[in-house]
Amino acid sequence: MILPVIMAGGTGTRLWPLSRSMYPKQFLPLVGESTMLQETIKRLEGMDTESPLIISNEDHRFIVAEQTRAIGVSSEIILEPVGRNTAPAIALAALTKVNQGHDPIMLVLAADHVIADVEQFQKSVSFAAVAASKGLLATFGVVPTEPETGYGYIKRGDNAIAGETYPVEAFVEKPDLQTATAYLEEGSYLWNSGMFMFKASTYLEALKSFRPDIYEACKSAMSVTANDLDFVRVDKQAFEACPSDSIDYAVMEKTDKAVVIPLDAKWNDVGSWSALWDVDTKDCDGNAFKGDVLLHDTKDCLIHGGERLIATVGLDNLIVVDTKDALLVADKSKVQDVKKVVDALKKDQ
Ligand code: GDD
Ligand code: MG
Repeated sequence: MILPVIMAGGTGTRLWPLSRSMYPKQFLPLVGESTMLQETIKRLEGMDTESPLIISNEDHRFIVAEQTRAIGVSSEIILEPVGRNTAPAIALAALTKVNQGHDPIMLVLAADHVIADVEQFQKSVSFAAVAASKGLLATFGVVPTEPETGYGYIKRGDNAIAGETYPVEAFVEKPDLQTATAYLEEGSYLWNSGMFMFKASTYLEALKSFRPDIYEACKSAMSVTANDLDFVRVDKQAFEACPSDSIDYAVMEKTDKAVVIPLDAKWNDVGSWSALWDVDTKDCDGNAFKGDVLLHDTKDCLIHGGERLIATVGLDNLIVVDTKDALLVADKSKVQDVKKVVDALKKDQ
């Protein structure tokens, strides 16, 4: 059986003012009725999986518990006292299982992605499971449509080593624009979707050889765990001492055991308001909206209402997001800069 491991410790600052540090995007119903975390779990329905293991920040423990319970799922929840990025988070998950005497195939998922075609997603997972069972580190590769610099790029080998499974010739995390543009022209590069599949032991061995410092820190953080309810708490002091790094830099760029499975499932990591507009349902004028809105002569906008009515007149290509204490109005082509607003706000605090 497959163990879904859901990473839910990100901050999602580019979706401010809806996504806040106390309530980041994975816990919001950004597309549809369920939250992104709930959607991530529901996407596994019909597959032969164990109940998920979720890793999140301690501050969000009740949100995670409540959101999983609301969809009738019981899950173990590992609580990180501080964020140390994904390489340590996944190590904590793997060590939890290994310490319990298991070596499951872990399907590592981000809690904040949209995948519209669930059938294709599950198909790719079944190929990755075979690779993982052979001791390989499987990634899921999306055909790129633009030279996005916020993604990892995977150079895929020409010949499949098994059904829909290709060798990885190179893995490059977040290249600069020039490099990403060259990759797109070259044609054999895919986006790393940020989901992975491997045995717990395969990951731990790789981490131990490439980043023994992270491996040891996580091991000692796990040596003093305390379980209360479904929560697994790790030692704060030991985990604070763990270096921070992503799985992409710590392991995937360095390993020669990586394989890639193509993912053609309408995947989107919803990294910005314009990405959300892209995946959202739109009216005949291209507007995506939520809440109480009255739109007149308004085209290609995303309007996210809060508690009051939002009326718009003569708008084109704008983002309007209203919350109790903050209102964002932004040009749709400049939404990456929302992060700068958040940085400025942090500085003022
Ligand atoms: N538990 C936990 N702890 N989860 C974390 C932490 C942490 O410290 N940091 C991040 N996460 C979670 C986020 O919530 C998200 O679901 C996932 O791990 C990935 O983290 P991001 O911070 O969103 O990574 P990224 O988007 O910059 O890059 C990754 O994803 C891209 C695709 O969306 C990389 O894997 C890229 O290579 C990839 O292209
Ligand atoms: Mg992300």
